[in-house]
Amino acid sequence: MIRSAICGIGTALPKRVVKNAELEEIVDTSDEWIVQRTGIRQRYIAGKGETTVTLGTRAAREALQNAGLEIGDIDLIILATSTPDHTFPASATEIQQALEMKHGVAFDVQAVCSGFVFALTTADLYLRCQMARRVLVIGAETFSRILDWKDRTTCVLFGDGAGAVVLEAVDGVGDIRDYGILASILRSDGRHVKKLYVNGGPSTTQTIGHLCMEGREVFKYAVGAITDVVNTCLKVAGISHESLDWFVPHQANKRIIEASAHRLGIADEKVVVTIDGHGNTSAASVPLALAVAVRDGRVKRGDLIMLEAMGGGFTWGAVLVRW
Ligand code: ACO
Repeated sequence: MIRSAICGIGTALPKRVVKNAELEEIVDTSDEWIVQRTGIRQRYIAGKGETTVTLGTRAAREALQNAGLEIGDIDLIILATSTPDHTFPASATEIQQALEMKHGVAFDVQAVCSGFVFALTTADLYLRCQMARRVLVIGAETFSRILDWKDRTTCVLFGDGAGAVVLEAVDGVGDIRDYGILASILRSDGRHVKKLYVNGGPSTTQTIGHLCMEGREVFKYAVGAITDVVNTCLKVAGISHESLDWFVPHQANKRIIEASAHRLGIADEKVVVTIDGHGNTSAASVPLALAVAVRDGRVKRGDLIMLEAMGGGFTWGAVLVRW
């Protein structure tokens, strides 16, 4: 049986760090409120010349280097983003150009904060159907450019960044002992589109628009949706939460992460939390968090990791991986 193993990881963050104190000068907020309600202490904000494509390209280059591969070894690039450089073409093709990849195929996936788990699952299907041998999966965002910087209820929550992995087809035996992606569940429910959306677009207002969110409503829904999809993923894989070595959730809010982990019965020390340093980077959040845990030595070869995310749409999903 073919499995999709992660063989390289890379990240990229903008140069500028913005601490909570700096936001106190822009909107009526406080470091204390932001830390207590969200766990966020700082975020990175893209400056002139830094875009979703430049950040995604940097993360992709680092992932290739980490895997010991060249762009010629890659058959497919999937970019998860809701903040593309242009309405079209797909930013994935702009990254393809930047990486000087003249073969293969590149496309974007749009599932907001769940984008990376949607892209990872799509890549896994390509590999298992033998339509590709190696795939670059990138999550890259510049949410700072769709925020209303006068709206304290949203502008304090998000940051910019990118993370990327290289997935490679490897042989497996077809059970839980295999390396790579072992199970994956995706969900969406369009009844909730108005709870978290951007109020502009080419076919409606012909503007980019700003992010709008009913935070309390999203919060209420998030914990149930996350725990449900993670439990389903565990069931499909035929294991219990106790077998997990690491839980790498989307970094939207520390309280959502803690409540979800608690309801799933996952011990605090197995939960990777990076929201304090990055804020919510949407589709970049899961690979950024995973990279931190890989680099500081927590994640070791053979570890079982549950990735999950939930975002606008609503969309949500979970992916079980053996590192
Ligand atoms: N600073 C100070 N006060 C604030 C701020 C701020 N930045 N923002 C809101 N407040 C005030 C509100 O006005 C309200 O005041 P009031 O009681 O006088 O009306 C009070 O703080 C409490 O507001 P709540 O909205 O109830 O605060 P809550 O504890 O729910 O936290 C938050 C808000 C952080 C947005 C939370 O609801 C949350 O994290 N929601 C989910 C976000 C999320 O997960 N998004 C999903 C993914 S993102 C994506 O897909 C793009």
